[in-house]
Amino acid sequence: MALDLDLRTPIAYGWNVFEELNLHVPEGKAMLVLGRGSARALDLESRVRKVLRREIDVFQGVEPNPSVRTVMEGSETIRVSDPKFILAVGGGSVIDAAKFMAVLARHGGEVMDYITGRLTPPDAGYPVYAVPTTPGTSSEITPFSIVTVPEERNKLGLRHPSIYPAKAIVDPELTVSLPRDQTASTGFDILSHAMESYWSRNANPLSRQLCLNSVRLIRKHLKNAYEDGASRPDREGVSLASIFAGLSFSNTGTTICHAISYPITVDTGLPHGMACALSLGPTFELLVEKGADGMEELAECFGSSQDSFREDLIEMMRSMNVPTDLDAIGFKGGAERIMSTNISGFQRNFTLDINSDDVRRIIEDM
Ligand SMILES: [Fe+2]
Repeated sequence: MALDLDLRTPIAYGWNVFEELNLHVPEGKAMLVLGRGSARALDLESRVRKVLRREIDVFQGVEPNPSVRTVMEGSETIRVSDPKFILAVGGGSVIDAAKFMAVLARHGGEVMDYITGRLTPPDAGYPVYAVPTTPGTSSEITPFSIVTVPEERNKLGLRHPSIYPAKAIVDPELTVSLPRDQTASTGFDILSHAMESYWSRNANPLSRQLCLNSVRLIRKHLKNAYEDGASRPDREGVSLASIFAGLSFSNTGTTICHAISYPITVDTGLPHGMACALSLGPTFELLVEKGADGMEELAECFGSSQDSFREDLIEMMRSMNVPTDLDAIGFKGGAERIMSTNISGFQRNFTLDINSDDVRRIIEDM
């Protein structure tokens, strides 16, 4: 049987590749989509205007964990401007939101129409050129867009091959000023993507090698990038880890650690990657206990073993000031709150069967 690995978004990667932005986007008017904090901190609008010789309209203000409202507002701005392409410059939230806006602006409908599958995007709408200023979500190379839906008290996603960005321009230099807490959170998001993709039902030997490489790079570079943000080899290492994890999990999807993280983030505000990392150790141990294959190799890439993986992970999290259990973050809902969200799709995405009692055990073990 053939092994499938869909690598649909071309990637321009390299230190200072942002300075060559002109070479990587089409002619015609751009709609620049920006966030809040990162856009200001990095002065992104003026930096883009300096390097990009195009007419530029701007939609600014995508918040972390972007809301349905922001996505609708942005889509309206894009519809009125009718650009040739969208240039999303920012963290994962900005790129996620831009992908959804692009679909809505061209094809109409509401956010929930696409999330529930009532509508399917026939294509990306407007082509999205994505420049990440944080590693982590890998949104610049995935067919996912995650938005926060207040009525559902959850983060929900659109996953469709038509929303792969038209191109990713990945410049690790843009991540140099990322503060420590965000370096930690985005780094653990990468680790979660790599590990969950590895033990996904949809994994294959091609995707698994990408995951193992990603885990190895995170182990080698994340702590150093956290301690010395200006370290070029370490920022490059983490950016590469994000690309490898993204190429893999855009094919396989994630598993229960992501599903568990969403209500935790919505209720407590704990950053996404930190919320994902909370359940990695318990999930790893459950899979070892159930005899999932390849777990020793996964642990080895983390410089660990099956027996000591969880302890080593906790030590790494503590060293970067990342909470290591649910009590520490004041999450009140317990297993019931998490299991009342729609986790079944994530639960089914394991190499072996994981039932509700298993999920409860993971949560209670966090
Ligand atoms: Fe994630």
